[in-house]
Amino acid sequence: MCLTIPAQVIKLEKGKAVIQENDRFKQIQISLVPNLKVGDWILYINDSALEKIPRNEAKEILELLEVPYQKIDISRLSGKFRDIIQTSKSKDLTKEEVVYLLKTKELEQKALFSEANLVRKTYIKDFICIHGIIEFSNFCKNDCLYCGLRKENLTLPRYRMSIEDIVNIADKAVTEAGYKLLVLQSGEDYFYTDDILEEIIKKIKEKCRVFIFISIGERGYKCYERLKKAGASGVLFRFETSNLELFKKLHPQGKNLANRFEHLRFMKELGYFIATGSIIGLPNQTIENLAEDILTTKKWAHMVSTGPFVPCDNTPLANLVHGNIEMSLKTIAILRLMMKNARIPVVTALETLAGENGRKRALQAGANSLMFNLTPENYRPFYKIYPDKFFQKETIWQKYGLFKYEESYKMLEERMTKEIEKEKYATN
Ligand code: 5AD
Repeated sequence: MCLTIPAQVIKLEKGKAVIQENDRFKQIQISLVPNLKVGDWILYINDSALEKIPRNEAKEILELLEVPYQKIDISRLSGKFRDIIQTSKSKDLTKEEVVYLLKTKELEQKALFSEANLVRKTYIKDFICIHGIIEFSNFCKNDCLYCGLRKENLTLPRYRMSIEDIVNIADKAVTEAGYKLLVLQSGEDYFYTDDILEEIIKKIKEKCRVFIFISIGERGYKCYERLKKAGASGVLFRFETSNLELFKKLHPQGKNLANRFEHLRFMKELGYFIATGSIIGLPNQTIENLAEDILTTKKWAHMVSTGPFVPCDNTPLANLVHGNIEMSLKTIAILRLMMKNARIPVVTALETLAGENGRKRALQAGANSLMFNLTPENYRPFYKIYPDKFFQKETIWQKYGLFKYEESYKMLEERMTKEIEKEKYATN
Protein backbone atom coordinates (compact mmCIF):
# COMPACT_ATOMS: atom_id res chain seq x y z
CA MET A 1 0.00 0.00 0.00
CA CYS A 2 1.05 3.55 -0.43
CA LEU A 3 0.70 6.47 1.81
CA THR A 4 0.23 9.91 0.40
CA ILE A 5 0.89 13.23 1.94
CA PRO A 6 -2.31 14.72 3.25
CA ALA A 7 -3.51 18.00 1.82
CA GLN A 8 -5.68 20.78 3.11
CA VAL A 9 -8.69 21.98 1.15
CA ILE A 10 -7.95 25.56 0.19
CA LYS A 11 -11.03 26.31 -1.89
CA LEU A 12 -14.16 24.59 -3.12
CA GLU A 13 -15.25 25.44 -6.63
CA LYS A 14 -17.53 23.82 -9.20
CA GLY A 15 -17.92 20.69 -7.11
CA LYS A 16 -14.16 20.20 -6.81
CA ALA A 17 -11.61 20.92 -4.12
CA VAL A 18 -8.49 22.96 -4.65
CA ILE A 19 -5.38 21.76 -2.83
CA GLN A 20 -1.71 22.60 -3.01
CA GLU A 21 0.66 19.94 -4.33
CA ASN A 22 4.29 20.94 -3.94
CA ASP A 23 4.28 24.42 -5.45
CA ARG A 24 1.18 24.06 -7.59
CA PHE A 25 -2.51 24.36 -6.97
CA LYS A 26 -4.52 21.37 -8.10
CA GLN A 27 -8.21 20.65 -8.53
CA ILE A 28 -9.41 17.25 -7.35
CA GLN A 29 -12.66 15.27 -7.42
CA ILE A 30 -14.48 15.00 -4.14
CA SER A 31 -17.36 12.66 -4.94
CA LEU A 32 -15.99 10.00 -2.54
CA VAL A 33 -15.87 12.46 0.35
CA PRO A 34 -19.13 14.29 0.85
CA ASN A 35 -19.55 17.38 3.03
CA LEU A 36 -16.01 18.67 2.67
CA LYS A 37 -15.33 22.15 3.96
CA VAL A 38 -12.55 24.60 3.30
CA GLY A 39 -9.80 23.91 5.84
CA ASP A 40 -10.49 20.16 6.06
CA TRP A 41 -7.61 17.72 5.69
CA ILE A 42 -7.86 14.89 3.16
CA LEU A 43 -5.89 12.03 1.69
CA TYR A 44 -5.96 11.97 -2.07
CA ILE A 45 -4.49 10.04 -4.94
CA ASN A 46 -4.06 11.28 -8.48
CA ASP A 47 -7.11 13.45 -9.00
CA SER A 48 -9.46 12.14 -6.32
CA ALA A 49 -9.97 12.79 -2.64
CA LEU A 50 -10.27 9.48 -0.79
CA GLU A 51 -11.06 10.34 2.76
CA LYS A 52 -11.14 13.09 5.31
CA ILE A 53 -8.67 12.82 8.18
CA PRO A 54 -8.41 14.71 11.46
CA ARG A 55 -6.10 17.72 11.48
CA ASN A 56 -3.84 16.42 14.25
CA GLU A 57 -3.26 13.15 12.40
CA ALA A 58 -2.59 14.96 9.15
CA LYS A 59 0.02 16.99 11.05
CA GLU A 60 1.56 13.82 12.42
CA ILE A 61 2.00 12.37 8.95
CA LEU A 62 3.32 15.65 7.64
CA GLU A 63 5.87 15.91 10.40
CA LEU A 64 7.20 12.48 9.53
CA LEU A 65 7.33 13.06 5.82
CA GLU A 66 7.22 16.60 4.81
CA VAL A 67 10.80 17.63 4.76
CA PRO A 68 11.35 21.27 4.05
CA TYR A 69 13.75 21.43 1.17
CA GLN A 70 16.73 23.12 2.67
CA LYS A 71 18.13 25.44 0.13
CA ILE A 72 21.82 25.18 0.54
CA ASP A 73 23.96 27.82 -1.03
CA ILE A 74 25.56 25.52 -3.52
CA SER A 75 27.97 28.22 -4.70
CA ARG A 76 29.85 27.80 -1.44
CA LEU A 77 30.49 24.17 -2.23
CA SER A 78 33.35 22.79 -4.30
CA GLY A 79 33.16 22.82 -8.09
CA LYS A 80 33.72 19.06 -8.04
CA PHE A 81 30.63 18.49 -5.87
CA ARG A 82 28.51 20.73 -8.08
CA ASP A 83 29.73 18.95 -11.21
CA ILE A 84 28.85 15.55 -9.78
CA ILE A 85 25.33 16.63 -8.82
CA GLN A 86 24.89 18.11 -12.29
CA THR A 87 26.18 14.92 -13.94
CA SER A 88 23.81 12.77 -11.87
CA LYS A 89 20.86 14.54 -13.49
CA SER A 90 21.52 13.01 -16.89
CA LYS A 91 24.26 10.39 -16.64
CA ASP A 92 25.43 7.48 -14.52
CA LEU A 93 28.03 8.32 -11.91
CA THR A 94 31.50 6.79 -12.05
CA LYS A 95 33.10 4.94 -9.16
CA GLU A 96 35.34 7.91 -8.47
CA GLU A 97 32.33 10.24 -8.30
CA VAL A 98 30.51 7.88 -5.95
CA VAL A 99 33.60 7.72 -3.71
CA TYR A 100 33.65 11.52 -3.62
CA LEU A 101 30.00 11.62 -2.52
CA LEU A 102 30.56 8.92 0.11
CA LYS A 103 33.35 11.04 1.56
CA THR A 104 31.31 14.26 1.80
CA LYS A 105 31.07 15.92 5.18
CA GLU A 106 29.20 18.77 6.83
CA LEU A 107 27.71 21.20 4.32
CA GLU A 108 28.36 18.99 1.30
CA GLN A 109 26.83 16.02 3.05
CA LYS A 110 23.77 18.11 3.89
CA ALA A 111 23.57 19.26 0.29
CA LEU A 112 23.80 15.64 -0.88
CA PHE A 113 20.81 14.70 1.30
CA SER A 114 18.76 17.65 0.22
CA GLU A 115 19.50 17.03 -3.48
CA ALA A 116 18.44 13.39 -3.06
CA ASN A 117 15.32 14.42 -1.21
CA LEU A 118 14.47 16.81 -4.00
CA VAL A 119 14.86 14.00 -6.55
CA ARG A 120 12.48 11.86 -4.46
CA LYS A 121 9.94 14.64 -4.31
CA THR A 122 10.24 15.42 -8.00
CA TYR A 123 10.10 11.89 -9.35
CA ILE A 124 7.90 10.01 -6.95
CA LYS A 125 6.09 12.89 -5.35
CA ASP A 126 5.24 12.02 -1.82
CA PHE A 127 4.12 8.45 -2.13
CA ILE A 128 5.56 6.41 0.67
CA CYS A 129 5.05 2.72 0.09
CA ILE A 130 4.46 0.36 2.94
CA HIS A 131 5.29 -3.30 2.60
CA GLY A 132 4.94 -6.15 5.06
CA ILE A 133 7.37 -8.93 5.85
CA ILE A 134 6.49 -12.35 7.22
CA GLU A 135 9.51 -14.19 8.60
CA PHE A 136 8.21 -17.73 8.38
CA SER A 137 11.22 -19.80 9.46
CA ASN A 138 14.49 -19.01 11.23
CA PHE A 139 16.19 -22.29 10.33
CA CYS A 140 19.19 -21.79 8.07
CA LYS A 141 21.67 -24.19 6.55
CA ASN A 142 24.28 -21.45 6.11
CA ASP A 143 26.95 -19.98 8.34
CA CYS A 144 27.35 -16.39 7.20
CA LEU A 145 29.60 -14.82 9.83
CA TYR A 146 27.46 -11.73 10.35
CA CYS A 147 24.05 -13.34 10.68
CA GLY A 148 22.38 -14.43 13.91
CA LEU A 149 20.43 -17.17 12.09
CA ARG A 150 23.66 -18.98 11.11
CA LYS A 151 23.38 -22.66 11.79
CA GLU A 152 26.27 -22.67 14.23
CA ASN A 153 24.33 -20.38 16.53
CA LEU A 154 23.02 -23.14 18.76
CA THR A 155 21.71 -20.67 21.33
CA LEU A 156 18.86 -19.54 19.09
CA PRO A 157 15.50 -21.31 19.53
CA ARG A 158 14.29 -22.24 16.06
CA TYR A 159 10.76 -22.11 14.66
CA ARG A 160 8.91 -22.94 11.48
CA MET A 161 5.47 -21.68 10.65
CA SER A 162 2.91 -24.02 9.11
CA ILE A 163 1.60 -23.50 5.59
CA GLU A 164 -1.77 -22.66 7.06
CA ASP A 165 -0.38 -20.03 9.43
CA ILE A 166 1.63 -18.33 6.71
CA VAL A 167 -1.36 -18.20 4.37
CA ASN A 168 -3.66 -16.89 7.10
CA ILE A 169 -1.28 -14.16 8.23
CA ALA A 170 -0.82 -13.05 4.64
CA ASP A 171 -4.55 -13.09 3.99
CA LYS A 172 -5.28 -11.06 7.11
CA ALA A 173 -2.56 -8.54 6.26
CA VAL A 174 -4.13 -8.01 2.85
CA THR A 175 -7.83 -8.12 3.60
CA GLU A 176 -7.81 -6.44 7.00
CA ALA A 177 -4.80 -4.15 7.07
CA GLY A 178 -4.66 -3.48 3.32
CA TYR A 179 -1.12 -4.58 2.46
CA LYS A 180 -0.52 -4.89 -1.27
CA LEU A 181 3.01 -6.22 -1.20
CA LEU A 182 4.26 -8.92 1.15
CA VAL A 183 7.73 -10.35 1.53
CA LEU A 184 7.94 -13.98 2.63
CA GLN A 185 11.35 -14.43 4.22
CA SER A 186 13.20 -17.29 5.90
CA GLY A 187 16.67 -18.64 6.43
CA GLU A 188 17.77 -21.04 3.71
CA ASP A 189 15.53 -23.83 4.93
CA TYR A 190 14.94 -26.87 2.74
CA PHE A 191 12.28 -28.18 5.08
CA TYR A 192 10.12 -26.06 2.81
CA THR A 193 10.48 -28.01 -0.39
CA ASP A 194 9.73 -26.42 -3.76
CA ASP A 195 6.33 -28.14 -3.57
CA ILE A 196 5.55 -26.56 -0.21
CA LEU A 197 6.70 -23.09 -1.29
CA GLU A 198 4.62 -23.39 -4.43
CA GLU A 199 1.61 -24.39 -2.37
CA ILE A 200 2.04 -21.41 -0.01
CA ILE A 201 2.22 -18.93 -2.88
CA LYS A 202 -0.68 -20.46 -4.76
CA LYS A 203 -2.86 -20.50 -1.66
CA ILE A 204 -2.14 -16.87 -0.83
CA LYS A 205 -2.81 -15.80 -4.42
CA GLU A 206 -6.08 -17.75 -4.43
CA LYS A 207 -7.22 -16.02 -1.27
CA CYS A 208 -6.22 -12.44 -1.91
CA ARG A 209 -4.88 -9.95 -4.36
CA VAL A 210 -1.30 -9.19 -3.37
CA PHE A 211 2.20 -9.01 -4.76
CA ILE A 212 4.41 -11.64 -3.20
CA PHE A 213 8.16 -11.18 -2.91
CA ILE A 214 10.23 -14.14 -1.77
CA SER A 215 13.41 -13.98 0.25
CA ILE A 216 14.51 -17.57 0.71
CA GLY A 217 18.13 -17.69 -0.45
CA GLU A 218 19.93 -19.63 -3.14
CA ARG A 219 17.38 -22.21 -4.18
CA GLY A 220 18.40 -22.56 -7.84
CA TYR A 221 16.73 -21.87 -11.18
CA LYS A 222 14.08 -24.60 -11.09
CA CYS A 223 12.69 -23.46 -7.77
CA TYR A 224 12.50 -19.81 -8.79
CA GLU A 225 10.96 -20.74 -12.12
CA ARG A 226 8.21 -22.70 -10.36
CA LEU A 227 7.54 -20.00 -7.80
CA LYS A 228 7.27 -17.37 -10.50
CA LYS A 229 4.69 -19.50 -12.28
CA ALA A 230 2.89 -20.00 -8.98
CA GLY A 231 2.47 -16.24 -8.70
CA ALA A 232 5.53 -14.74 -6.97
CA SER A 233 6.34 -11.29 -8.38
CA GLY A 234 9.64 -10.33 -6.84
CA VAL A 235 12.67 -11.40 -4.88
CA LEU A 236 14.52 -9.84 -2.03
CA PHE A 237 17.98 -11.18 -2.54
CA ARG A 238 21.07 -9.23 -1.55
CA PHE A 239 24.50 -9.86 -3.04
CA GLU A 240 25.78 -8.78 0.44
CA THR A 241 29.09 -7.42 -0.87
CA SER A 242 30.40 -7.17 -4.41
CA ASN A 243 33.98 -7.70 -3.22
CA LEU A 244 35.17 -11.25 -3.82
CA GLU A 245 37.72 -11.39 -0.98
CA LEU A 246 35.30 -9.93 1.54
CA PHE A 247 32.54 -12.26 0.39
CA LYS A 248 34.83 -15.28 0.83
CA LYS A 249 35.85 -14.24 4.34
CA LEU A 250 32.26 -13.73 5.44
CA HIS A 251 30.97 -16.93 3.90
CA PRO A 252 33.56 -19.54 4.82
CA GLN A 253 31.21 -22.40 4.19
CA GLY A 254 31.71 -22.47 0.44
CA LYS A 255 29.01 -20.11 -0.72
CA ASN A 256 30.27 -18.17 -3.65
CA LEU A 257 29.66 -14.74 -5.07
CA ALA A 258 29.40 -16.03 -8.63
CA ASN A 259 26.43 -18.18 -7.66
CA ARG A 260 24.73 -15.19 -6.09
CA PHE A 261 25.08 -13.17 -9.26
CA GLU A 262 23.99 -16.18 -11.30
CA HIS A 263 20.82 -16.18 -9.20
CA LEU A 264 20.25 -12.48 -9.84
CA ARG A 265 20.81 -13.09 -13.54
CA PHE A 266 18.23 -15.84 -13.90
CA MET A 267 15.79 -14.12 -11.54
CA LYS A 268 15.86 -11.17 -13.91
CA GLU A 269 15.49 -13.45 -16.90
CA LEU A 270 12.44 -15.05 -15.26
CA GLY A 271 10.88 -11.60 -14.93
CA TYR A 272 11.17 -11.12 -11.18
CA PHE A 273 11.14 -7.63 -9.73
CA ILE A 274 14.51 -7.48 -7.99
CA ALA A 275 15.30 -5.98 -4.61
CA THR A 276 19.00 -6.22 -3.91
CA GLY A 277 21.96 -4.47 -2.35
CA SER A 278 24.71 -4.92 0.19
CA ILE A 279 25.57 -4.58 3.86
CA ILE A 280 27.27 -1.32 4.84
CA GLY A 281 30.11 -1.35 7.35
CA LEU A 282 31.25 -4.96 7.16
CA PRO A 283 34.68 -5.59 8.70
CA ASN A 284 37.53 -4.46 6.41
CA GLN A 285 35.13 -2.95 3.89
CA THR A 286 36.63 0.15 2.26
CA ILE A 287 34.91 3.20 0.80
CA GLU A 288 35.93 1.92 -2.64
CA ASN A 289 34.20 -1.40 -1.87
CA LEU A 290 31.06 0.50 -0.91
CA ALA A 291 31.19 2.55 -4.10
CA GLU A 292 31.38 -0.68 -6.08
CA ASP A 293 28.40 -2.04 -4.13
CA ILE A 294 26.44 1.07 -5.09
CA LEU A 295 27.27 0.64 -8.77
CA THR A 296 26.40 -3.07 -8.54
CA THR A 297 23.08 -2.27 -6.88
CA LYS A 298 22.29 0.20 -9.63
CA LYS A 299 23.08 -2.50 -12.20
CA TRP A 300 20.77 -5.17 -10.76
CA ALA A 301 18.08 -3.60 -8.63
CA HIS A 302 14.57 -2.46 -9.44
CA MET A 303 14.27 -1.87 -5.72
CA VAL A 304 17.12 -1.25 -3.30
CA SER A 305 17.78 -3.34 -0.23
CA THR A 306 20.79 -2.06 1.63
CA GLY A 307 21.49 -1.34 5.27
CA PRO A 308 24.15 -1.07 7.93
CA PHE A 309 25.85 -4.00 9.61
CA VAL A 310 24.55 -4.59 13.14
CA PRO A 311 26.72 -6.94 15.23
CA CYS A 312 24.75 -9.87 16.55
CA ASP A 313 25.53 -11.80 19.72
CA ASN A 314 26.57 -15.42 19.35
CA THR A 315 28.15 -14.77 15.97
CA PRO A 316 31.88 -14.48 15.20
CA LEU A 317 31.38 -10.75 14.52
CA ALA A 318 29.56 -10.04 17.79
CA ASN A 319 32.18 -7.66 19.17
CA LEU A 320 32.73 -5.51 16.12
CA VAL A 321 31.51 -1.97 15.67
CA HIS A 322 28.30 -1.43 13.77
CA GLY A 323 28.03 0.15 10.33
CA ASN A 324 28.16 3.92 10.20
CA ILE A 325 24.76 5.64 10.17
CA GLU A 326 25.91 8.63 8.12
CA MET A 327 27.49 6.31 5.56
CA SER A 328 24.21 4.39 5.29
CA LEU A 329 22.28 7.62 4.74
CA LYS A 330 24.79 8.78 2.15
CA THR A 331 24.41 5.43 0.36
CA ILE A 332 20.65 5.94 0.22
CA ALA A 333 21.11 9.47 -1.09
CA ILE A 334 23.58 8.45 -3.80
CA LEU A 335 21.33 5.59 -4.90
CA ARG A 336 18.41 8.01 -5.09
CA LEU A 337 20.44 10.33 -7.34
CA MET A 338 21.28 7.34 -9.55
CA MET A 339 17.89 5.56 -9.47
CA LYS A 340 15.32 8.29 -9.55
CA ASN A 341 12.15 6.20 -9.62
CA ALA A 342 13.30 3.23 -7.55
CA ARG A 343 11.79 2.02 -4.34
CA ILE A 344 14.33 2.60 -1.60
CA PRO A 345 13.14 1.25 1.74
CA VAL A 346 14.29 2.40 5.14
CA VAL A 347 15.59 -0.87 6.54
CA THR A 348 15.13 -1.97 10.14
CA ALA A 349 18.90 -2.20 10.66
CA LEU A 350 19.13 1.55 10.15
CA GLU A 351 16.15 2.21 12.38
CA THR A 352 17.67 -0.04 15.02
CA LEU A 353 20.90 1.94 15.01
CA ALA A 354 19.52 5.43 14.53
CA GLY A 355 16.38 5.07 16.67
CA GLU A 356 13.08 6.62 15.87
CA ASN A 357 14.72 9.48 14.04
CA GLY A 358 16.32 7.03 11.64
CA ARG A 359 13.14 6.67 9.62
CA LYS A 360 12.76 10.38 9.18
CA ARG A 361 16.42 10.92 8.36
CA ALA A 362 16.35 8.14 5.76
CA LEU A 363 13.25 9.60 4.09
CA GLN A 364 14.98 12.97 4.09
CA ALA A 365 17.96 11.38 2.38
CA GLY A 366 15.80 10.04 -0.45
CA ALA A 367 14.24 6.78 0.81
CA ASN A 368 10.57 6.24 -0.02
CA SER A 369 9.31 3.03 1.46
CA LEU A 370 8.94 1.22 4.74
CA MET A 371 8.86 -2.43 5.65
CA PHE A 372 6.66 -3.45 8.56
CA ASN A 373 7.07 -6.67 10.41
CA LEU A 374 4.03 -8.96 10.28
CA THR A 375 5.67 -11.95 11.97
CA PRO A 376 3.56 -13.03 14.95
CA GLU A 377 4.83 -11.64 18.26
CA ASN A 378 5.64 -15.07 19.65
CA TYR A 379 8.16 -15.75 16.88
CA ARG A 380 9.61 -12.28 16.43
CA PRO A 381 12.34 -12.40 19.09
CA PHE A 382 13.72 -15.52 17.42
CA TYR A 383 14.07 -14.07 13.94
CA LYS A 384 17.23 -12.54 15.18
CA ILE A 385 19.37 -11.74 12.17
CA TYR A 386 20.69 -9.00 14.44
CA PRO A 387 19.35 -7.61 17.70
CA ASP A 388 16.40 -5.54 16.65
CA LYS A 389 15.50 -3.05 19.27
CA PHE A 390 13.56 -0.68 17.15
CA PHE A 391 10.00 -0.19 18.23
CA GLN A 392 7.99 0.71 15.17
CA LYS A 393 5.35 3.37 15.46
CA GLU A 394 3.19 1.81 12.84
CA THR A 395 -0.32 2.74 13.69
CA ILE A 396 -0.49 6.09 11.95
CA TRP A 397 1.07 4.62 8.85
CA GLN A 398 -1.14 1.58 8.76
CA LYS A 399 -4.20 3.65 9.36
CA TYR A 400 -3.57 5.90 6.42
CA GLY A 401 -2.02 3.58 3.91
CA LEU A 402 -4.40 3.42 1.00
CA PHE A 403 -5.87 0.21 2.28
CA LYS A 404 -9.14 -0.37 0.64
CA TYR A 405 -8.50 1.27 -2.63
CA GLU A 406 -8.08 -0.57 -5.86
CA GLU A 407 -5.97 2.37 -7.08
CA SER A 408 -3.27 1.40 -4.65
CA TYR A 409 -2.84 -2.08 -6.18
CA LYS A 410 -3.11 -0.80 -9.72
CA MET A 411 -0.59 1.93 -9.09
CA LEU A 412 1.88 -0.58 -7.73
CA GLU A 413 1.33 -2.88 -10.69
CA GLU A 414 1.82 -0.07 -13.18
CA ARG A 415 4.98 1.09 -11.48
CA MET A 416 6.54 -2.33 -11.24
CA THR A 417 5.71 -3.14 -14.85
CA LYS A 418 7.14 0.18 -15.94
CA GLU A 419 10.43 -0.48 -14.13
CA ILE A 420 10.80 -3.95 -15.67
CA GLU A 421 9.73 -2.77 -19.14
CA LYS A 422 12.05 0.23 -19.02
CA GLU A 423 14.92 -2.09 -18.46
CA LYS A 424 14.03 -4.51 -21.24
CA TYR A 425 13.83 -1.55 -23.54
CA ALA A 426 17.21 -0.29 -22.42
CA THR A 427 18.99 -3.62 -22.83
CA ASN A 428 17.47 -4.66 -26.16
N1 5AD B 1 23.58 -6.83 10.14
C1 5AD B 1 22.94 -6.29 9.09
N2 5AD B 1 22.33 -7.00 8.14
C2 5AD B 1 22.36 -8.34 8.25
N3 5AD B 1 21.84 -9.32 7.49
C3 5AD B 1 22.15 -10.51 8.03
N4 5AD B 1 22.86 -10.32 9.17
C4 5AD B 1 23.01 -8.98 9.32
C5 5AD B 1 23.64 -8.16 10.30
N5 5AD B 1 24.28 -8.69 11.35
C6 5AD B 1 21.10 -9.08 6.25
C7 5AD B 1 21.72 -9.80 5.06
C8 5AD B 1 20.60 -10.67 4.56
C9 5AD B 1 19.38 -9.98 5.07
C10 5AD B 1 18.16 -10.84 5.17
O1 5AD B 1 19.77 -9.55 6.36
O2 5AD B 1 22.06 -8.83 4.10
O3 5AD B 1 20.58 -10.79 3.17
